[in-house]
Amino acid sequence: MNDGPLIASGSTHPALASAIAAHLGTDTARIRFNRFSNENLKVCVESNVRDRDVYVVQTSCPPVNESLMETLLLIDALRGASAGRVTAVLPYFPYVRSDKQDEPGVSITARLVADLLVTAGAQRLIAMDLHSPQIHGFFRVPVDHVTAVPVLGRALGAGGAVQRVVVATDIGEAKDAGRFAASLGVDLAVIDKRRTGDDEHAVPRALVGDVRGRHALIVDDEIATGGTIVEAAELVMRLGAASVEAAAVHGVLCGKALERIRSSPLQRVLVTDSIPLTDAKRDPRIEVVSIAGLLADTIGRTHRGESVADLASHR
Ligand code: R5P
Repeated sequence: MNDGPLIASGSTHPALASAIAAHLGTDTARIRFNRFSNENLKVCVESNVRDRDVYVVQTSCPPVNESLMETLLLIDALRGASAGRVTAVLPYFPYVRSDKQDEPGVSITARLVADLLVTAGAQRLIAMDLHSPQIHGFFRVPVDHVTAVPVLGRALGAGGAVQRVVVATDIGEAKDAGRFAASLGVDLAVIDKRRTGDDEHAVPRALVGDVRGRHALIVDDEIATGGTIVEAAELVMRLGAASVEAAAVHGVLCGKALERIRSSPLQRVLVTDSIPLTDAKRDPRIEVVSIAGLLADTIGRTHRGESVADLASHR
């Protein structure tokens, strides 16, 4: 393959793609996107990508379905333009929460998306903090599944005089939150949360662990409607925590998330730039931490054929 890695940005997150390219000191391919009046999309690769190692940087954000279609077209166009290898770099994976058949007659859409990416021509995937580990197994091509939790940990800082405790929002999050707590050298508490159907309402039932008099750090993979972290914050405060903040990898922030955060006891909410934060979603309490360096390191190592296992990889 010729030269260094080449970044091909979809239209969802050009700022992240440029930041990754800047970290790598590499080029960004010229891509033209057209949307026709009949709602068809056209993607045209204008750079010479022949034999290049290309990394398609695209995330899942509104309009989600159109963004997914654009990803497929871009990958297909790169393969058609004779790229040497195409890797999909999807910091927030489309339909990530549809990862199981939780009722009869529904599509396991994350598995379908995996099939579509491979059919379009993706030869590898770089993903970040997938909602569940089984999504990795939906792929028939190599997957590097990295985590941004250490990046969030560094951004949270050393902490003040009050003892800290990491709080996992549910049992599923306990493994990652446990690693996070270990890296900070603090205790872990876990919330027993139950969600009924897909009504978007998560109910924290109880807490295993002790938050009394401590500063609680709620950790989650994503904040969608905000119900989970806000109810978790209210629970830990009811149970005697001194203060509370939250860190989540993916700031989806849909529905009433912003209103909920504003009227919650949360002092600060950290998210990464895996999804662009639109002006409408900005709030002084919400801080964005960049994952461009982590993704650039992952891409650089992949290009050179080096291991990413020690680079915040999920294992
Ligand atoms: C759930 O299993 C996840 O870890 C998150 O807690 C959930 O996706 C957050 O969703 P929401 O913000 O809508 O409560």
